[in-house]
Amino acid sequence: MVIRSQIAGCGSYLPQRIVTNHDLEKHVDTTDAWIVERSGIRQRHVAAEGENTSDLAFEAAKAALANAGISADELDLIILATATPDHTFPATAARVQARLGMTRGFAFDLQAVCSGFIYALATADNFIKAGQVKTALVIGAETFSRILDWNDRGTCVLFGDGAGAVVLKAGEGQGTSADRGILSSHLHSDGRHYDLLYVDGGPSSTKSTGFVRMKGNEVFRHAVVNMAEVVGEALVANGLTSSDIDWVVPHQANIRILEGTAKKLAIAKERMVITVERHANTSAASIPLALAEAVADGRIKKGQLLLLEAMGGGFTWGACLVRY
Ligand code: UT7
Repeated sequence: MVIRSQIAGCGSYLPQRIVTNHDLEKHVDTTDAWIVERSGIRQRHVAAEGENTSDLAFEAAKAALANAGISADELDLIILATATPDHTFPATAARVQARLGMTRGFAFDLQAVCSGFIYALATADNFIKAGQVKTALVIGAETFSRILDWNDRGTCVLFGDGAGAVVLKAGEGQGTSADRGILSSHLHSDGRHYDLLYVDGGPSSTKSTGFVRMKGNEVFRHAVVNMAEVVGEALVANGLTSSDIDWVVPHQANIRILEGTAKKLAIAKERMVITVERHANTSAASIPLALAEAVADGRIKKGQLLLLEAMGGGFTWGACLVRY
């Protein structure tokens, strides 16, 4: 018998306001045609004034707890993956913990930008496997609209706001890939690429928040290679092949990265959950948003094998194989 972290529920939240590519055409030198052709994005949700990352995270958390049929006082741990916290400190997770009415256990933020949800899932899984935690809430929540330079057409058209969450519960398995739960997670980073995707501000360097800066085409080049490599690593570790995967739930940065990865792995595009056209890149929120959507509409079913994968600033990248 081995301990397995099993997904007991998922939830998500998107701010009400939708900004289309045509809306952006009025503010920056861009076109709907360019954005769709280069990224696959057609629209993004943007948080209202006064609506913060903790508000988005709280809504997604409530939905995930309801879906799991548990209350917040059953949680031992909250990990909130975000690069856009409400404040420099305390952790936005602490705010969510208080709003949920959870007064025991512990809560913290985790920062791995667009790979944040994969890193958070792996971290929660390890707490569960170590026996320290029985029930964990893992959230990815972002308000990237607050760190975009709305005059920089190379970045402002690509990102959106949103949140997604999953409840993990300790269960048992036989130690095979037929077990329900997280089968394995694979994390990587390479800090030599820090300057290809970063925010040009921060409390220690500039005492300001700063804006996203990206050398998009160089990030793109690394993304397809890193994704394919880490997915291969996850499959080999479990004695599986890409034909065993029922659904790929990828980080949603660019439709061309998703198509490139699908091609490299010989996985049909129809087996990918794709939300990038409606959500744009919501960083740490994109995977749990896509997961919650495909679970809610019945595409993802109990017992199916899911591959979650992401790449982001740092660079960071990683993958998790999960039997839902
Ligand atoms: O989530 C974390 C990871 N992030 C990513 O994975 C993002 C990865 N990168 C990308 O998705 C793509 O590189 C972009 C969508 C950002 C850009 O696509 P690209 O095909 O790599 O274009 P490019 O950056 O090479 O730029 C091509 C041209 C440039 O003009 P010149 O120099 O060729 O005259 C840009 O100035 O497109 C221009 N351009 C735009 N034109 C219209 C850049 N942004 C825009 C824009 N509208 N919004």
